[in-house]
This record gives sequence, structure tokens and C-alpha cells, in this order.
Amino acid sequence: MTIPARVLITDVGPRDGLQNESAPVSASVKVELVHRLQAAGLASIEVTSFVSPKWVPQMADNAEVMAALQRRSGVRYSVLTPNLKGLEAALLTRPDAVVVFGSASEAFSLKNINCSIAESIERFAPVVAAAHAAGVAVRGAMSCCLGCPYEGDVPPDRVAYLAGLMKDIGVEHAYVADTIGVGTPRRVQAAFEATLRHYAIDQVAGHFHDTYGQALSNTLAALEMGVWQFDTSVAGLGGCPYAKGATGNVATEDVVYMLHGMGIETGIDLNTLIDAGQYISHHLGRPTSSRVARAFLVRRQA
Ligand code: HMG
Ligand code: MG
Repeated sequence: MTIPARVLITDVGPRDGLQNESAPVSASVKVELVHRLQAAGLASIEVTSFVSPKWVPQMADNAEVMAALQRRSGVRYSVLTPNLKGLEAALLTRPDAVVVFGSASEAFSLKNINCSIAESIERFAPVVAAAHAAGVAVRGAMSCCLGCPYEGDVPPDRVAYLAGLMKDIGVEHAYVADTIGVGTPRRVQAAFEATLRHYAIDQVAGHFHDTYGQALSNTLAALEMGVWQFDTSVAGLGGCPYAKGATGNVATEDVVYMLHGMGIETGIDLNTLIDAGQYISHHLGRPTSSRVARAFLVRRQA
């Protein structure tokens, strides 16, 4: 398999990034962040979640944010939907794709969505059918493919098992998530091999949190297998409220810098992206987690 010439990045910062912020972020700031990301050339943005506001209060303004978007043609706007209640609310806001999210580990499934893996699939099946009936694509997030905050190691067979269940209910696209950022390149490749037992290479993506600083290496390991779709987070925002201590996804800026350095197209303008990262970092009152953004900002000042 050769390294792809073009990569599609989904920026999950507005959702995966901001869901972990304890101080409320206003809907207008979230909307402005999405606008800045699309201005930077992002063609896929995960905007928000239609989950219980008791579980994740930060995403309670989901419909308000979706309604205020000035959409660009060619950009895919996706949202998380854990159940039919979430899907019904989401469909009113016209997402291009919805995301059901399962876990390769039982313990994380229980902590994150309050049900077993088998129960989650029972819940997702009507969500997938209703989304398809409405003409909306479905992505399946597979959490804890490289390790679980409660169970520790998660073997590739568990990933294959979840991928098979997702495929059976009609999820057309699966992403291998390293929720707590513990994976290393060979293990990431094993998790993709397990997923590829059920999905084609064009139907899989990588979603790597960078807690242990492995996410860029893991991205390269996946690229070497031909994977060309990745979730990243502007300024490296984020984490999951049900995976304590896990940091954000790998910074979009860092991945874009690496890809452009390898001659791989993304359609993203790195300088405009760095400005988007600065916008949200200023708003949150802390420096960006992107190493590339920090280096560019020093150079700009000089
Ligand atoms: P539950 O308590 O078992 O659900 O939660 P329930 O059906 O018993 O409902 C309880 C209450 O929630 C009811 O309200 C429902 O109406 C309401 P009440 O009668 O008590 O007033 N409710 C909802 N409200 C709004 N929207 C909904 C919804 N569903 C129920 N969709 C549930 C089950 C799945 C809802 C809950 O566990 C939940 O919301 N979990 C979401 C957790 C979450 O958002 N985690 C972070 C995102 S996943 C992630 O970050 C990982 C990822 O990035 C990949 C990776 O890195 O691993 C994707
Ligand atoms: Mg995540």
C-alpha cells in the first residue's frame, strides 16, 4: 500500500475539543470557531453532540450552534447522536453526517453511554436506519481501540468484534479511536488490520488523542497502511469527560504541517488554521497545545 496523495481531515475541535471544557463557552464562540475552520479550508467539521445535557452540559446549545452556521458548500458538518432522541433532534438541524459512538471495551461503554457494547449496538441500529432513511451518512466511532482507562489493554480482536457489529447494523464508516492516547505505531496498525477485516480502506479513519505524545507517529503508521482520513483538533483542544486525564486529539496544525512536508495535499491553509487556533486559545485563556502553531507564532513575532 502506498502513502495517499491526499488526506481528508475532520476537525473535531468544536465537539471533542470543547466538550471537555468545564467553563461554558458561548454558542457564538463555537460558531465563530467553525467559521474560521471552514475559512482555513477544512472540508469536514464535527460541530457538536446531541447527547444528554446532564451528561455533557457544554453541548447543550447544539441546536443553537447548528442553526447559526453559515454553511459552505463542499463542507461536511457532522454531529454525535447516541440514541434516537439525539438523532431526532439532530435531524432538525440538517447535519451531513451523524456519529454513533461505541467502545471496544465494556467498561468504557458503561461509563460513557451507560450501557454494554451489545446494548449500544441495539440502540444504534434504529439510529442508523433512521439516519439513512433521512439521507444522512453515519460514522461509527470505536473508542478505546488501543487501551481503556478502566480495563487497560484492549486486544485487536475486541476491535474486530466491534467493527463487525458496526458493519452489521449498516454503519458505513468506522474510526479507530485512541481515546486515552496510549497507542504506539505497531499497535495502531494492528487495530486497523482488525477493522479492515470488516471495512475497506476508504471507509476507515484514525482518531488519535495525544496524551502520550504518540499521535503523529500513529498517524504516520496509519498513512503507511493507506488510511487517508483522520480526525484532529485545532490547537489540540479536548479530551473526553469519561476518560479522566486524557488530553485532546492531535493538533490539526501539527498533522497538516507533517502532511504538507510529505507532499500530501489537505486543502488547508496552515496560516489561517493557526489563526483559528489562536482565536479559540485566547478565548479559553491558555496557550495552544499545537507545537507547530507555537513555532509559527514565535517566527511571526520575530
Ligand atoms: P441514560 O441516562 O442511560 O439515558 O444516558 P436515558 O435514556 O435513561 O435518559 C436519561 C435522561 O436523559 C432523560 O431525561 C432523557 O430524556 C435524556 P430526564 O427524563 O431524566 O429528564 N436524554 C437525552 N437528552 C438529550 N439528548 C439525548 C438524550 N438521551 C437521553 N440524546 C446517554 C444515556 C447516551 C443519553 C448518556 O449516557 C449520554 O448522553 N452520554 C454521552 C456521553 C458523551 O457525550 N461522551 C463524550 C462523547 S464520546 C467521545 O468523546 C469519544 C470519541 O471522541 C471517540 C474517542 O476519542 O474515543 C467519539
Ligand atoms: Mg475523542
